[in-house]
Amino acid sequence: MTTLLQLQGIEKSFSGINVLKSVDLTIRAGRVVALAGENGAGKSTLMKIISGIYQRDAGKVVYKGKEVEFTTARQSMDAGIGIIHQELNLLPELSVAENIYLGREPTKLGKIQWDVIERESKKYLAQLKQDIDPKTPLGRLSIAQQQMVEIAKALSLNAEVIIMDEPTDALTDIETAILFEVVDELRAQGKGLVFISHRLGEIFQMCDDIAILRDGEMVHQAPLQRSPKTT
Ligand SMILES: Nc1ncnc2c1ncn2[C@@H]1O[C@H](COP(=O)(O)OP(=O)(O)OP(=O)(O)O)[C@@H](O)[C@H]1O
Ligand SMILES: [Mg+2]
Repeated sequence: MTTLLQLQGIEKSFSGINVLKSVDLTIRAGRVVALAGENGAGKSTLMKIISGIYQRDAGKVVYKGKEVEFTTARQSMDAGIGIIHQELNLLPELSVAENIYLGREPTKLGKIQWDVIERESKKYLAQLKQDIDPKTPLGRLSIAQQQMVEIAKALSLNAEVIIMDEPTDALTDIETAILFEVVDELRAQGKGLVFISHRLGEIFQMCDDIAILRDGEMVHQAPLQRSPKTT
């Protein structure tokens, strides 16, 4: 099994409160690891450390065999790490396509290639079975649709590691089923995925491994016997 990303001895405190205590985690190619634990256990903080949004106080992040030190989200994105945030991270007044390509708009001779942005956005939305006009202002969409846009954005990065922080919370059953099909495709392509959820049924359906955080400590890590839905 190929290891894509490894966290070793990660420590993080906020205002003197230690919220991550020597945490280890391995993300492997072609596998989905569930990150579970109660509210406030430190799941999102750990993922934000991987993606360069927060800086760790101690420990190592080894990505594709090299120790990395991402200081911005942009750096982790460029390196091939995509994160779907728990809280929606989009701008409602911009269009769907603008949101998907924000800050990394393709240009030609100094001009933004809107036709490319719209075409590519449509392609990723179609992969998620979303018939949404990329020109629509994001704020006009339902929360579930906005979450699908966030997922489309992660797909558009063509990332090797994809972190999904409670992606199903805002989704209906139909969209959740679509997301799970896409997760299966990404797994088959050899991507390494982290799936955070409070729903055990989803974890047993989707995940190959489980890691459980309790009060900032990794208390359990083991392979899972997946029980994919047969219907
Ligand atoms: N920016 C911050 N400043 C101060 N404290 C923070 C910050 N971010 C997180 N925390 C604290 O760190 C701890 C872990 O929070 P985190 O959001 O990582 O938990 P979580 O496991 O993702 O919880 P949930 O399941 O509710 O999403 C909590 O006590 C939280 O209050
Ligand atoms: Mg969280």
